[in-house]
Formats: sequence, C-alpha cells, structure tokens
Amino acid sequence: MRLLVCGGAGFIGSTFVGLRVREHGDEVTVLDKLTYAGRIQNLKDVAADIRFVHGAIEDPVAVADALGSHPPDAIVNFAAETHVDRSIADPFAFSVTNGQGTHVLLEAAREHGLRYVQVSTDEVYGSIATGSFTESSPLAPSSPYSATKTGADLLVSSYFHTYGLEAMVCRGSNNYGPRQYPEKLIPLMILNAFSGDQLPVYGDGRQVRNWLFVEDFGRGIGHVLAHGQPGETYNCGGPDECENLEVIKRILELTGADESLVEYVTDRPGHDRRYSLSSEKLQALGWQARTRFADGLGLTVDWYRDSAWWWEPIRSGAYREYYERQYGRALKA
Ligand code: NAD
Ligand code: TYD
Repeated sequence: MRLLVCGGAGFIGSTFVGLRVREHGDEVTVLDKLTYAGRIQNLKDVAADIRFVHGAIEDPVAVADALGSHPPDAIVNFAAETHVDRSIADPFAFSVTNGQGTHVLLEAAREHGLRYVQVSTDEVYGSIATGSFTESSPLAPSSPYSATKTGADLLVSSYFHTYGLEAMVCRGSNNYGPRQYPEKLIPLMILNAFSGDQLPVYGDGRQVRNWLFVEDFGRGIGHVLAHGQPGETYNCGGPDECENLEVIKRILELTGADESLVEYVTDRPGHDRRYSLSSEKLQALGWQARTRFADGLGLTVDWYRDSAWWWEPIRSGAYREYYERQYGRALKA
C-alpha cells in the first residue's frame, strides 16, 4: 500500500512504519512536526525507504505537501499530544493537535477519497472498576488529553456518517516497548532505576493499566487498516493487566535497583483508577496480541540498557526541565 503516516516519528508511529516497510513493503510518507516527543532517529532503520515531511497536521499546506501529486491509498494518524500530565499543565496544545489537526486530516482524506485510520486510546472511556470496556461503552474521558482524543474520534465518526469517508478508529490500551519517551511510567522508572533517581509513585500506586506491547498495537492498527469496516471502532487491548506498584517491583528486579528508590508523591489530579479493554471485535478480524507483559517488559528493559545513545540526549536536554517542573526535584546526572 501507499500510506501517509502522521506522527510516524513518535514511539508507536515509528514502530508501525518499521513493520509496514519490513513486513508489507509499503511505500510510506511520514508527516511529523517533531515535537519534543518526535525524533527522526526513531526512523533511522527505514530512513532510506521512506519519504519524510517535517510539518504539522493542523497545517493544511503541510498536509497537502505530504500528500503530494499522487495521493496515497490511506492516511493513518498517530500524531498527537499524548501525555496526561502535560495535558493537565498545558492543555491548549492538545486541542490544536488532537482536535484541529485531526480535522484537517479528515478534510484532506475527504477531498482525495482516501481510507483513514485514527489511532486512539482506551482513555476515551474513562475509568472502569470491574470488567472491560467494549466499543459500545459510553465515552467518559477525564483528562484534557483523553477529552481531545474523544473529540477527534467523534469527528472521525461524523465524517463517515456525513460524507461516507472510509474511516475507522483503533483504540489501544497502554503501550510499552523500545523508543517510548521517558515521561511515561515504564521508561521513566527504568531510566530512573538505572541512574539511582527516585521512582515517583502517584497516590497509592494501586492504579491498574492494561499493558500492550507496541508491536502488537502496530499490527492491530495494520489489521484495522486492511480489514476494518468503514465507520467502525476497534479496541486493541493488551493481554495482561498490572497495578503500577507491581510494574515498578518488576522493574526493580529486572534492573537490580534498590526498592528504597520508591517514593510516594502527590497523586495526579483526576487520576483514572483502572483501564481495561475487551478486544473481541478485533480478534474476530484475526488479530491477537503475541507478547505477554512479563516477556515484553524484559525486552524493554534490555533495549533501554543497550540504547543509551537513544535516551542520553533526551535525559540531558529539555526533559530535565520538564522533570523538575513535574516532580519538583532534579534528576541526577
Ligand atoms: P508520542 O508522544 O511518542 O509521539 C507523538 C508523535 O506525534 C511525535 O512524533 C510528535 O512529533 C508527533 N506530533 C505531535 N504533534 C504533532 C502535530 N501537530 N503535527 C504532526 N505531528 C505531531 O506518542 P505515541 O505514544 O507514539 O502515541 C501515538 C498515538 O497513539 C497517539 O495518537 C496516542 O493518543 C495513541 N495511543 C498511545 C498510547 C500509549 O500508551 N502511548 C496508547 C493508546 C493510544
Ligand atoms: P502514564 O504512563 O502517564 O500513562 P496513562 O496515565 O496515560 O495511563 O501513567 C501510567 C500509570 O502510572 C498511571 O496510573 C500514572 C502512573 N504514574 C506514576 O505513578 N508515576 C509517574 O511518574 C508516571 C509518569 C505515571
């Protein structure tokens, strides 16, 4: 296929691009604004095989440039502001990228009659105490991040209903794996454990997340792209759920760091207690998660141990200021 992948320089987008080039021989253009979370190094293994356009999805000129004179078969949109804590501190960037940016892409897809996949999140359903969310569960987002992702999902659905756009939504649960920016729980704890920094646990640490290895999500999105019905939404959840404290305990074991590094800190405002997705609809299309959490977490710790070239420039740059603002303490060197 010929694909325009928006946000393809980020964590999940770059994994998806790698899978599409290696496993499907797709012809890929990446459009990415290269925010703090987007890095061209994430695409280094496929650099010779793809076209890269530096630009924002909310900019119709950049989108037209990325589509070029011979438009692709489909747009897959990963581009987003993605971190809940940043959405609490500075929410407006989230409306622009997640809301307006998605809208500009939908217009471009409509103009050229392209298939469209919106990459979304389980956070649009809010928190669930027991059981799992299905695609027909009510939407009840609790953070500015999840609210803007929900708005984007509804716009996608409106473009199917109103204009007949061949658009689908794929909602993933919490991803983890190589190249995840260290503001998120798992890479933050791994890198802090390596360097002897405190491991900041929000609240009581008993929140539960449904962990999905990033390649499994990449393949799930590929499945929706190939087999999804226009107008439909597909959940893509991981095979295992785990409390945050248990995730941290396993990271301590895998890194050999001391448990005295664990520090309980002020809880995140509006913190969702538990996420859980039922993925039966996507499984019926033939998708299945391949990686159990215990295996994927080991692979992830090994990757960060071997990839200081990737994370050292982040940890010595603007991330330090973010960390101080967010956690009220400096990282060690
Ligand atoms: P990320 O933060 O690692 O990467 C986001 C990418 O989007 C970066 O390359 C960034 O430069 C780019 N970007 C940001 N704003 C842009 C803009 N205005 N125009 C063009 N590019 C822009 O995010 P991620 O974790 O890879 O998430 C990708 C998608 O998957 C997001 O839509 C997110 O909501 C969704 N998702 C993430 C998770 C997760 O656990 N990380 C789970 C489910 C769904
Ligand atoms: P995160 O990786 O931010 O993903 P999300 O909030 O989108 O699920 O956080 C995962 C869980 O880890 C969530 O319950 C918040 C918690 N957490 C901490 O306890 N400490 C931290 O420093 C971070 C970043 C997250």
